Amino acid sequence: MNKAFLVFTVLVWRATAQAPPAAVVPPEAQGYLEAHNKARADVGVAPLKWNIQLGKATSLLVRFQRDRQNCQFANLTSGKYGGNQMWATGEVVTPQTVVDNWVSEKTYYTYANNSCAPSHRCGVYTQVVWRNSAELGCALARCSKDQSTLAICFYNPPGNVIGESPY
Ligand SMILES: *[C@@H]1O[C@H](CO)[C@@H](O)[C@H](O)[C@H]1NC(C)=O
Ligand SMILES: *[C@@H]1O[C@H](CO)[C@@H](O)[C@H](O)[C@H]1NC(C)=O
Repeated sequence: MNKAFLVFTVLVWRATAQAPPAAVVPPEAQGYLEAHNKARADVGVAPLKWNIQLGKATSLLVRFQRDRQNCQFANLTSGKYGGNQMWATGEVVTPQTVVDNWVSEKTYYTYANNSCAPSHRCGVYTQVVWRNSAELGCALARCSKDQSTLAICFYNPPGNVIGESPY
């Protein structure tokens, strides 16, 4: 099987924007929420709540990347939310496998000194478990290119604040 997982995270500074109000959880949210909240519970961090507006924002963005950007990673550097992305091909991608891929970076993260092993991207993991992030929205798009999938999650407030520990 052609396995090509790429992970990518963006450091996002604290934004001043207020979160939109939370609403009922749509069915597609469950897998993302459960996988995030299991990883958070494992380190004693409170669960994330789904946010409809964040879900819509990620849905618009993955479809834009699919339709206009050849299914490449989005540029999230100027966004007001924290963001995790994953692009995969030759895999059955589900919300669970997306989040599990990010959480797999936990192996390379050392909490005691808040550092990451060389050539790893622990930021995708630390965003998943970031204590001050309270709300989540995620979406994925299937792309024709290489039968790939692009998935994006947004977090509010953003995590991975420089110089801070995730929890
Ligand atoms: C992403 O956007 C930022 C801010 O708009 C810009 O400075 C940066 O060059 C962009 N990065 C890429 C890879 O396009
Ligand atoms: C952090 O701790 C780990 C485990 O003890 C060690 O391997 C790593 O070199 C340390 N990193 C830094 C930047 O001190």
